[in-house]
Amino acid sequence: MRRPPAKPPAGLFLPLDHAAATPLYRQLYTGVREAILAGRVAPGSGLPSSRALAAELGVSRNTVILAFDQLAAEGYVEGTARSGTRVAAVPVKPPVLERPRRRGPGPSVRGRAIAATPMAALSRGQTPAVPFRAGVPALDRFPVSLWSRLTARRWRHHPALEYGDPAGYAPLRDAIAEYVRVARGARCLAGQVIVTGGSQQGVDLAARVLLDPGDAVWMEDPGYTGARTALLAAGARLVPVPVDADGLAVDQAERMAPDARMAYASPSHQFPLGVTMSAGRRLALLRWAARAGAWVLEDDYDSEFRYDARPLASLQGMDEEGRVIYVGTFSKTLFPALRLGYLIVPPELVEAFRAARAVSDRHSPTMDQAVLADFLAGGHFARHVRRMRRLYAERQDVLVDAVRRGLGDRLRVVPSAAGMHLVGWLEHGQDDAEVSARAAALGVEAAPLSRYAMKRPERGGLLLGWAGYAPEAIREGVERLGAALGR
Ligand SMILES: Cc1ncc(COP(=O)(O)O)c(C=O)c1O
Repeated sequence: MRRPPAKPPAGLFLPLDHAAATPLYRQLYTGVREAILAGRVAPGSGLPSSRALAAELGVSRNTVILAFDQLAAEGYVEGTARSGTRVAAVPVKPPVLERPRRRGPGPSVRGRAIAATPMAALSRGQTPAVPFRAGVPALDRFPVSLWSRLTARRWRHHPALEYGDPAGYAPLRDAIAEYVRVARGARCLAGQVIVTGGSQQGVDLAARVLLDPGDAVWMEDPGYTGARTALLAAGARLVPVPVDADGLAVDQAERMAPDARMAYASPSHQFPLGVTMSAGRRLALLRWAARAGAWVLEDDYDSEFRYDARPLASLQGMDEEGRVIYVGTFSKTLFPALRLGYLIVPPELVEAFRAARAVSDRHSPTMDQAVLADFLAGGHFARHVRRMRRLYAERQDVLVDAVRRGLGDRLRVVPSAAGMHLVGWLEHGQDDAEVSARAAALGVEAAPLSRYAMKRPERGGLLLGWAGYAPEAIREGVERLGAALGR
């Protein structure tokens, strides 16, 4: 176990005002919390001992202990007196914000809670993708001219310029229902489809319609930060649940929070670890949800890409009790800027979701929905996905081969039966955030596994996306990774 540093990390500048009305422990708590949320201190970095920090700041040790206790209770830091306090990977509880006595010019209490969520996760990805950013499709293979022909045809013949149904453009809802029934074994009629602005809006709507602030939600750990952000913004109290070779550890979750209101899971291809949830776990999850009257949010973000000819039906299709909210997206199969996805919700929830969507932005752009409906109905979607599946399988082979030849034991990879990324496992004891930073300096994006974790993972790893990169770029990226790994 590494000893915590004696000095505060560089980003932790903590000016305390001894004359202020705000108690010192509260000032200290706020200062550390803001440094964490602003990313000035990295997840996993050690904080000084309470004794050292008290001496450094000229306050009593009790003041520091009180502040650290509050930070630990809210999930910002973790650790023990013996091993030292460390910054947690990501906060797991919504920030408890006090109602201001006098209203200032800034955002509301709720607005501040939203601003304090780990938004950074969603603002990544606006620069051109370089290997090995995960989840990026082969955008240069998207049939742009076909899409523009379909768009032009719509504008010529049937431009839809009036307000539309908040639940989505009817022909698109029909096409999606047909697709998820056939391809995902879902049980669904078109009336249960809610077209959304990508899965991000799907999770946000589900959180707002189904959760009250303070409700417990089981969250895969490590797990998808985009979903975590939306759940935190709705005031959910996240319960980090470990993921093993069978997926979300339902039995452990039941012990930790049997009365949770919701579970978030990616059963087809867990993000980021890549495991597929076993049949036993699926049943256990559905049984718990039925017993507890809880919801299961099934994020099926990249299930179209399976390489072992064994596409698994969705959890939604196994659900007899109407507890699953299925989240789908066209960001991976088509392109992320399209901002179109969908929810499949139980029939009795359709009106609440339709209302929530209407309140926020009425609906997704009708003409984009119409072009997508034509793309699906014309068989172009199925053809494109088939092509990409072949291409991604080849590209994964290139990656696995290059890593095994070039990096050997320094980065262990196991081919993935699904999806668009895999995890390269570092040797025990290596800090994935450090390796990732060295790789970034060499022009390679390989996100550290710890970025997606709420509790510090036992072994570090790097996320390696392959789908969007040509073989030469993959090989070149692996060489640079080798340099980042050293030896
Ligand atoms: C687990 C997971 N779900 C969903 C998405 C897609 O999000 P959206 O549909 O909002 O583009 C991603 C993309 O990175 C993802 O990794």
